Amino acid sequence: FAFDAESEEQIAAILAKYPPERKASGTLPLLYVVQKQMGRQTGSAWVPRVAMDEVAHRLEVAPIRVYEVATFYLMFNTKPIGRYHLQVCTTTSCWLRGSDDVVAACKKATGIDGFGQSSADGLFTLTEVECLGACANAPILQVDDDFYEDLDGPRTIELIEALRRGERPTPGPTIDRVNSAPAGGRR
Ligand code: FES
Repeated sequence: FAFDAESEEQIAAILAKYPPERKASGTLPLLYVVQKQMGRQTGSAWVPRVAMDEVAHRLEVAPIRVYEVATFYLMFNTKPIGRYHLQVCTTTSCWLRGSDDVVAACKKATGIDGFGQSSADGLFTLTEVECLGACANAPILQVDDDFYEDLDGPRTIELIEALRRGERPTPGPTIDRVNSAPAGGRR
């Protein structure tokens, strides 16, 4: 696995933060650099085993130290995924606020049958995730690194259709809930 110039620049900045004997602290950020580079180069943001080996080499640690981190954290994809990674939160707040509708809309708009699968055109992968820490604006759909909030079925379908057209809608709340709250403001 070969890092490109952009990644090498990022790696140099990351490693500069740690004392030489604590290089292993760069495991998470370097894996993230790998995933981003794969996304740029192949359209599929994932971390191949050969890249984990290269990270271990750079950090001067045993490869198992990198494998165990890469396979523990769900934000690292250890197999190829679609160009857009649809990650639906189905934990309590999102579930109470309609995550079932978001899941159904994702399936309808992509043709995907269930979690862990990719669409036939390779554009989308659908994943179920636990609380993303954005419960106040539940339900949440994370697309790659972007959070889309306050979704419902129709807005989820609109979002996916926009992605399919190559657009990238602005992340964040999809309704203006603050201004639409009853007099007296939010509780
Ligand atoms: Fe979905 Fe917290 S429950 S973001």
